[in-house]
Amino acid sequence: MSRTIFSKHRLLFSTCIGLSAVLGLAACEPENGISSGQNTVVAGKALIGGPFSLVDHRGQSVTEADFVGKPQLIYFGFAFCPDVCPTSLQRMGAALDMVEGGAEAFQPIFITVDAERDTPEQLALYVTANGFPEGLVGLTGSTDQIEAAKKAFAVYGVKVEDSNSAGGITYDHTDIIYLMDKNGEFLDVFSSTDAPADIAARLSEHKKTGR
Ligand code: NI
Repeated sequence: MSRTIFSKHRLLFSTCIGLSAVLGLAACEPENGISSGQNTVVAGKALIGGPFSLVDHRGQSVTEADFVGKPQLIYFGFAFCPDVCPTSLQRMGAALDMVEGGAEAFQPIFITVDAERDTPEQLALYVTANGFPEGLVGLTGSTDQIEAAKKAFAVYGVKVEDSNSAGGITYDHTDIIYLMDKNGEFLDVFSSTDAPADIAARLSEHKKTGR
């Protein structure tokens, strides 16, 4: 996303609207992004997630079925994102490092909203960035494939012109981390205001349930 305040607020606003519509949240606070926690878990259980068909950073075609068996942390963004995506992925990495009983219980996944620039080769470089989760899988695909994945996860990601960004374009996009259970069912959502320790604590609780 853009670094301008305007874009940032638009991002949070859009995130709020999108999740409110899908999860049935009664109210949201633009300054803090979305709310997260137990209310969201209950309200959104069956509405986030679904079939997707994408290409991983090794060039292999994958679907949601390839990730069955392990709970997944899913984040949508784009590799050229200057600050928001790296910050969130580093928070994901830090949280997983703190999870009781081991981060390997979760599969971290990055899905790009930038079909044009984020090739598998690009994502192969990106997923190993400093502080990103160990074993992070990058997913891309055709514009149609990515649109379908965004729709399944109620994610907002729109290309906007920005003369300050690489190539003159950037993406306003949802800045949230989804936790899906080992069968790909929605479990929880973490916003940009959740600290790694808090995310880790909730992941540890989810881990105990065996889902
Ligand atoms: Ni971003």
